[in-house]
Amino acid sequence: MKTLTQSPTGPAFVQDPYPFYAAAREQGQLHHWQDYGMAAAFGHSAVHMLLRDRRFGREVPEEMHKDGAAHLAPFLAVEAHSMLDAEPPRHTRLRRLVLRAFTSREIAALQPGLEDLCHRLIDEFPAAPFDLLDAYCTQVPVIAICRLLGVPEEMAPQLLDWSHRMVAMYQASRSETTEHAAAEAAQAFTDFLRGYIGKRRNDPRDDLITRLIAAEEEGDKLSTDELIGTCILLLNAGHEATVHSLGNGVKTMLQQGWQPDWLAPDGIDGLVEEILRFDPPLHMFTRYAYEEAEVFGHTFRRGDQVALLLAAANRDPSALDRPEVFDPSRPPKVNKSFGGGLHFCVGAPLARLEMQIALPILFGRCPDLRLAAEPEYSNTYHFHGLTRLLVTV
Ligand code: HEM
Repeated sequence: MKTLTQSPTGPAFVQDPYPFYAAAREQGQLHHWQDYGMAAAFGHSAVHMLLRDRRFGREVPEEMHKDGAAHLAPFLAVEAHSMLDAEPPRHTRLRRLVLRAFTSREIAALQPGLEDLCHRLIDEFPAAPFDLLDAYCTQVPVIAICRLLGVPEEMAPQLLDWSHRMVAMYQASRSETTEHAAAEAAQAFTDFLRGYIGKRRNDPRDDLITRLIAAEEEGDKLSTDELIGTCILLLNAGHEATVHSLGNGVKTMLQQGWQPDWLAPDGIDGLVEEILRFDPPLHMFTRYAYEEAEVFGHTFRRGDQVALLLAAANRDPSALDRPEVFDPSRPPKVNKSFGGGLHFCVGAPLARLEMQIALPILFGRCPDLRLAAEPEYSNTYHFHGLTRLLVTV
């Protein structure tokens, strides 16, 4: 295994990490990434295999578990009940109960309301240059997840604030200040949901929170702490990545010169998959080895971590032709942006639906949409999203 050095907060890397990925891939599937102090998979085959290899998982091995710092307690309490940080049998149970409440029927039922929302947002666009990320790309996913869960839409700005403070914990720029802010946000979010779940228990509605309360599998129910952890995971995961998929997608379309065919009913699926492949909003996830495992010539020992570079796998020339070219007409087959295996994104159908609705309405209503300033990515690796997207219509 070669050792590679690349700061995840280096300005050039944050703006364009793809040359580093390409150079890494040329030298092999798996390397030691010095700055993270762990092995990292850059090739499509290695990422694909490791996502599915049950000798690896997301949950910290038992003997490595440490009581976290006291100031992080409220944040860690939420994580402790999140399916994203669990492995079977805990993961199986949480995911199954969530999937029973999160069905394709409920997702499809959001469509007409989301179309109206997109039109309403566009009606309010100003004539002067404005931030599309704020005015559109953020609003659609956050309101969609509020509607699905059954949280009042007026809560959207508050949810965004809690969520931004919590997800900063997963970014390379994490500091003591972000830790305190995340813990405060987790406490406030938990307090709100504890009250709100209590209300729904006594006054059931046709929403996901009510269905999660009722979801039962062989007599098993989600505890209140599990309900809170699950709702926070759905609310946070439910918009952060979709906001930036829309933002990165609009940026790419404007920079590449978009074609009306891409937005036609028979082109839109291909466009959405290509946006997600070409410039995904989440670049890296990690796994722990649970036993000694030999992978691409490297022997992992129990407790070793490995980073999976989803965004690098998406551009592996051994898996698809001309991966550096943005081509919505290509058959959508190597997209790793939603992960794979046990933790494959629960929200993938919702994220796709939101993009399939929001993009054609935006470009249909605003055919003269133009960039008003050069977009820049935020220094928030492994997240990969814009600071703002200044446009004119
Ligand atoms: C374009 C938008 C999205 C992207 C790129 C994305 C990406 C991902 C990825 C890569 C994972 C797996 C992480 C791993 O394997 O370590 C994941 C898991 C997850 N995502 Fe998404 N996601 C998106 C939207 C959503 C939405 C809209 C929701 C919810 C409404 C959601 C909920 C979840 C949940 C609950 C998990 C954990 C699944 C598990 O652990 O079994 N995501 N997502």
